[in-house]
Amino acid sequence: MGRAFLVYFLAILALWSVSVVKAEDAYKYYTWTVTYGTAAPLGPSQQVILINGQFPGPTLDTVTNDNIILNLINKLDQPFLLTWNGIKQRKNSWQDGVLGTNCPIPPNANYTYKFQTKDQIGSYTYFPSTLMHRAAGGFGAINVYARSVIPVPYAKPDGDFSLLIGDWFKTSHKGLQQILDSGKPLPFPEGILINGQGRPSFSGDQEVEGSHVLQNIYDSLDIHVGQSVTVLVTLNQAPKDYYIVASTRFTQTVLTATGVLHYTNSQVPVSGPVPAGPTNEVYPNSWTAILVSLDNQGMWNMRSAMWGRQYLGQQFYLRVYNPTQSYANEYDMPSNALLCGKAVGEKHP
Ligand SMILES: *[C@@H]1O[C@H](CO)[C@@H](O)[C@H](O)[C@H]1NC(C)=O
Repeated sequence: MGRAFLVYFLAILALWSVSVVKAEDAYKYYTWTVTYGTAAPLGPSQQVILINGQFPGPTLDTVTNDNIILNLINKLDQPFLLTWNGIKQRKNSWQDGVLGTNCPIPPNANYTYKFQTKDQIGSYTYFPSTLMHRAAGGFGAINVYARSVIPVPYAKPDGDFSLLIGDWFKTSHKGLQQILDSGKPLPFPEGILINGQGRPSFSGDQEVEGSHVLQNIYDSLDIHVGQSVTVLVTLNQAPKDYYIVASTRFTQTVLTATGVLHYTNSQVPVSGPVPAGPTNEVYPNSWTAILVSLDNQGMWNMRSAMWGRQYLGQQFYLRVYNPTQSYANEYDMPSNALLCGKAVGEKHP
């Protein structure tokens, strides 16, 4: 009797926790198709990589702990793979979308990623992780919004915008790959794009009483290659149009891209010279120490975010290992994993 009761109780507990997990951690389903297309980000038309017809690709809007089920269909003439940059992939290096843990998706094939935005909040990016595809598009923004029950230390913003800023070549990704394969360095990029465009525009209402809790107030932000940040912008200035400026640092030629921030009650178009970036005083010929806590078991790719260097081999894999095999530490290889190389024809583990 006592034993039956205990079992019954445990079963109820188990059911209860399953339903809680379902209610809290939504499942979101996506189908993304990757194709070539044309765009003219710097003037002349050129081949780019589209996702669902878009360049840059669609924004992946998620909430903390969402389960993402994303079927990626490759219609390119080369194997393709996306990585989710900044998503921690807890216990789940199998979904990191890099060659060490995922086989690339062959042309006319697909792979369904399954991962969770576990305990995260913020803005991140996804991009192609193989060959030089990243230089042709296929990238986009990932937003992980806070769950409604989690308080954030500022008023709910009126809107939010993702700005994907990156350098751009008029040469195709295959042309760039040929340059690297022939032992030559990549040329200096021809421009900088914001959201795949020359001058995108963003509109917002003036905030007369705009205030928020913030530890730091910035006039400009240094964002290094491969990094992403989330910032609050308060529209408490005179109602005009303003430049949004992204410029390179530590380069002999400074490339600049501008966007426009438009106050909805503005009558004044943006004009005049673009403000200069911060002066060049600190990082070149310097060094940095990296402190990482290895708390996520799996096989992880450490790489240069300068993509030409990554392509040429400035990368390695770091295995975070625990001798005790347990689902508490690491999930199994997914049953739909694509097999490649020597694993072709092997049985799934
Ligand atoms: C490819 O897509 C189909 C659904 O169209 C899905 O059932 C299958 O699991 C996907 N393949 C992989 C390897 O994920």
